[in-house]
Amino acid sequence: MAGAQDHAAVVSDDGFVSCACGIRVGSPYFHALHCEEQATLPPHDRSGWPELSFRTVPAARWPQGGAIARNCAGLGCTEYTVARLLHGATPASLRTAIALVPSLGGAGSDGHALGTAMLAFSAGALARMGWPCPPEMRAFDEKRAGDTGSIVFPAGTNDLLLFCKSATPEAAAASTASFLAAAAPALDSSSVVTTVGFHNGGRDLTGFIDGTQNPDTSLRTVVAQATATTAAGGAVSTGSSSYLGSSFVFVSKFVHDLSSFRALCPHKQSEVIGRELQREQPQKGSDGRIENPKIGRDLNGSHVYRAWGEMYRQSMAFSEKNQAGTIYSTEAGEQGKEGLLFLACSHKLSELDEALDRMCGNEAGQYGESLSLSVTAPLTAINVR
Ligand code: HEM
Repeated sequence: MAGAQDHAAVVSDDGFVSCACGIRVGSPYFHALHCEEQATLPPHDRSGWPELSFRTVPAARWPQGGAIARNCAGLGCTEYTVARLLHGATPASLRTAIALVPSLGGAGSDGHALGTAMLAFSAGALARMGWPCPPEMRAFDEKRAGDTGSIVFPAGTNDLLLFCKSATPEAAAASTASFLAAAAPALDSSSVVTTVGFHNGGRDLTGFIDGTQNPDTSLRTVVAQATATTAAGGAVSTGSSSYLGSSFVFVSKFVHDLSSFRALCPHKQSEVIGRELQREQPQKGSDGRIENPKIGRDLNGSHVYRAWGEMYRQSMAFSEKNQAGTIYSTEAGEQGKEGLLFLACSHKLSELDEALDRMCGNEAGQYGESLSLSVTAPLTAINVR
């Protein structure tokens, strides 16, 4: 198996840089980019990215592991927990739980833990912790459809989001449990809700391949789009460097009405997303991942023509019906809730906010139909280092 040493830089007398694997790259910068393209190179950091990428992207050491965790089948088990802080609770137990977060996610039995976690806070929770709130940060206000005025994204009421991403369901569950055990005295126990996600081959339950346009071709692009890399002028600038490496997070539980969606003809389903459901082919111009090709023009508010923005998505399918035993089955149930646990991190709140507004039709007066599939329960929060 190839390792980092096979991609060492070889510098000639005239300063020209080649890679030990034989590729001529010219400069240290292009050598770094070439190394980062080897996205599956072992050994892996807990976040699923090769250790080598952390050498060439030093800013990747700032964010919490969960914010940049790689979308891959090896990290196919997620748990998303939301909760409200108890009124009058002192932050001491929460501080104990926060200290656990960097070590959550991995099973660790083979000595090389794969799996990671992220903890995000609402603006109110930051205040309760006595931490400064970044100027851009605010509570999530409900968003309404531009045409009918109906609520598309209701206001969230949660204070905390814990996101655990692991190699096994047991590791994800154990991570959530140990955080909750430590944080319990600070949490309103009736507000704690955990949703279990499953990778589903990278597909939404509608059958569409999800994540095609994600910036996860390399750790460099993930860090640039998902996390604040500069204090001055950065989106999460507080005047100090305390939010360096943090992100704005939008998480939303979309419960799909799959029987209605499946009753639509494939052409109509494709129109809703803006990609061709019945075609799958290698993506051109990027890393060649298999995609449903994009429909060349916006048909009636298609999702991908509304939802663009600088963000890193780590959404996974969920099915509540199967929680009794076969959680990670891809079988769709007749009863019970199932859908998409949507999670995106961005370096700028406005990137998320404007995408959601476009989906509501608040820009061009058209309502992106993929959301008519689902109801949602969002939380806007900041991911603190
Ligand atoms: C019912 C919920 C949703 C479903 C089923 C869904 C599904 C999809 C699918 C199938 C794609 C095309 C493949 C891809 O590029 O990844 C896509 C693209 C995308 N979605 Fe969603 N999505 C949902 C909600 C959201 C929300 C709430 C946001 C934003 C806050 C969002 C942001 C995006 C972005 C940025 C893209 C890439 C668009 C582009 O530049 O082409 N999605 N989504």
